[in-house]
Amino acid sequence: MSLRGDGGPRYRNLRNDDAPYERIVVDRLTPVIGAEISGVDLAGPLPEETMEEIRRALAENLVVFFRDQRMSPAQHLAFGRRFGELHVHPAAPHVAGMPELMVIRADASSTRANGEGWHTDVSCDEEPPMGSILHIRECPPHGGDTLFASMYAAWESLSDRMKSYLAGMRAVHDGEHVYRGLYSNLGVADKPSYPRAEHPVVRVHPVTGRKALYVNAGFTTRLLGVPRDESDAVLAYLFRHAENPLFQCRFRWRADSVAFWDNRCAQHRAMWDYWPHVRQGHRVTVKGERPVG
Ligand code: SIN
Repeated sequence: MSLRGDGGPRYRNLRNDDAPYERIVVDRLTPVIGAEISGVDLAGPLPEETMEEIRRALAENLVVFFRDQRMSPAQHLAFGRRFGELHVHPAAPHVAGMPELMVIRADASSTRANGEGWHTDVSCDEEPPMGSILHIRECPPHGGDTLFASMYAAWESLSDRMKSYLAGMRAVHDGEHVYRGLYSNLGVADKPSYPRAEHPVVRVHPVTGRKALYVNAGFTTRLLGVPRDESDAVLAYLFRHAENPLFQCRFRWRADSVAFWDNRCAQHRAMWDYWPHVRQGHRVTVKGERPVG
């Protein structure tokens, strides 16, 4: 779907954040989302100045990628802790003795793979995670890419009428239909209940101050304050709008690549196009705050 208007493109990327970096090299994948960072070893002790630049690159690019990172699980957890307290997933399997180290794995025996639909991680939590750091250790020969989409761009390119309609509106994000039974083939028993929360449909990012569309096809089930049929129709429009390739980048993994995405302003979707091959790694997730509209 084109986002052309009478006066040219409806979405204009007017960012002006080209100040140089001193400690890291940042190479953008697109003008809208995604950048590859080099010149840094995530396993090593990282000085605060380097951490500040990684935080800045994440804020400017929504998702950042690193190559050739030979991190142990303990180093991965330690890197995550530099960004805040770590989150424990309400349903997914983790490495034994390391509840904060989520297992990401699909192979010939898999009946599903993580993150196959567009979503933001665990948006059903009252305080959904700010970010996720995925270290892929083993890749299929081809495929297994992850797509990321900017929810700033999705919000900014809605019409003014749609923005005023959605302003102040809240939505239900439910984990029940997502997680119940999801990991039973891996021997993970269901919990009595899964998280459910209400969040603003447009949220203000606590670091950048920018507005981001905050509904996703994975978890958002209902717009509040409007009839069910209207909610279904508007959500269907927003989910389709958010998937516009204009808002996206696509990351091709290699073994020991790392992606760090900001769940407050980006959605992602993993491609399971490599069955019966193996793709596996670990995810560390950093706790976030209650979304503010
Ligand atoms: C996820 O949603 O965390 C999985 C992403 C991926 O495997 O690329």
